[in-house]
This record gives sequence, structure tokens and C-alpha cells, in this order.
Amino acid sequence: MSALTPVITIDGPTASGKGTVAHRVASALGWGVLDSGALYRLTALSVLQHKINPEDLQAVARAGQQLEVSFHPKGVTLFGAEVADLIRQEHVGNLASRLAPNPALRQALLERQRAFRVAPGLVADGRDMGTIVFKDAELKIFLVADAQARAERRCKQLIEKGISANLDDLVADMRERDARDIERAVAPLIAATDAHVVDSSQLTIEQTVQNVLDLWSRVLPTPPAKV
Ligand code: C5P
Repeated sequence: MSALTPVITIDGPTASGKGTVAHRVASALGWGVLDSGALYRLTALSVLQHKINPEDLQAVARAGQQLEVSFHPKGVTLFGAEVADLIRQEHVGNLASRLAPNPALRQALLERQRAFRVAPGLVADGRDMGTIVFKDAELKIFLVADAQARAERRCKQLIEKGISANLDDLVADMRERDARDIERAVAPLIAATDAHVVDSSQLTIEQTVQNVLDLWSRVLPTPPAKV
């Protein structure tokens, strides 16, 4: 293991369950969590609120740099206002994925993401956690699930939050967003060469979390033998 605070990265496509798995793994280990997608969503919300032209790459990067964000156990505030539900809306996620290829924005968010690496450890979820942001992570997971399973989960999540959702629209939106994330030139969605690919289509959340914890227990240094 590196001398730095340990990191487990969980990357994967939209609605593969990364967020839930990341939170549960972090809570089992007593570690912190970075939901990097939230930073792209918060940038999207700020761009909407400040009427910034999404095509203006430098203005968007500045919006990312200047975000005043505070994550707390029940949500997140942007410039002091609670926005946890607002950033989960599909149009905000969609704009986030349109802004995400902007290299200046990705650079602006890099240090902010790395600052989450504090003891005793961090579980970071996103698209490029294992390939760019935490290249030296001790354990890298690439979490996948088939599109239908992902759309059904996202639909259920939105309805539980009181946000209306249509399954066919979600499948279409998800495919479009995945294609954008995979095909972009900068930090595309791809498994790191040293990532473990976990397919959660047929697994419960508990089984997926256990899978990650089992992989982590194999990374832990072997305790010195007692003599
Ligand atoms: O994970 P989530 O759906 O909240 O992310 C919203 C969008 O932000 C994604 O569709 C993706 O385009 C972008 N993103 C990214 N890199 C990350 C996390 C999210 O490009 N590390």
C-alpha cells in the first residue's frame, strides 16, 4: 500500500449503483466518501443559475472553480442553499454530462476532489477516479450492470424521491449519457487496467458491497507473523 491515505475507487456508468455501494463500503470501513458526479452536477446547477453559456469553456471552468460547496450527512449546499434534490434532477445530470468533456473544468475540479483524501480512508465514486484522479488507489472497482437493470433502479430511486420518471425515457437518456461519457476525448469512462470489474446486474446491494469488502480484505497488508 502507498504511504498516503488509502483510497478505493468505484467507477462505472450511470446508475450502476456506484453511489449506494460507495456509501455502504465507506460506512463499513468508517471512511469518507467522494461523490465526484455531484461536483459535475453542482457545476451544471451553477451554470443554470448564473445563466452561463455551456459552450463557453472558460466560463464553465470558472464556475467549477468558484463553487462554494458543503457536503453534510443529509445533503449538500451550494452557495449556502440546500440543493441535494435539485442536482438529482435528470436535466441537471444531463447538462453535467454535456459539460464534463471540458478539459478546463476537469482540471478545475481535480484538486477539489483530491482534497477529499483524508484519514482514515476514502471511497471515491465517478467515471475517472481510478484512471485519473486517484491513479494510485489501493483498490479499483469498475461497477457495471445491464442498461435495463440500471434504468429500473434509477426509475425507482427517482420515484422514491417524489420525482416523476418514465422508464423508456430513462433508458434512452442513459444510453445517450453513457455514449457521451465513453466517447469523450478527455477522461473517458473506461476501466483502469488494474481495476476489478464487478457486474451487479444479478447481485443485491449487500452482495455487491460484500464483494468490494472481500476484495479490500485481500489488499490489506498481511499482519506480521507472531513469534
Ligand atoms: O455520477 P453522476 O451521474 O452523478 O454524474 C453526472 C455526470 O458527471 C456524468 O454523466 C458524467 O458525465 C460526469 N462525471 C464525470 N466524471 C466523474 C463523475 C461524473 O465526467 N468523475
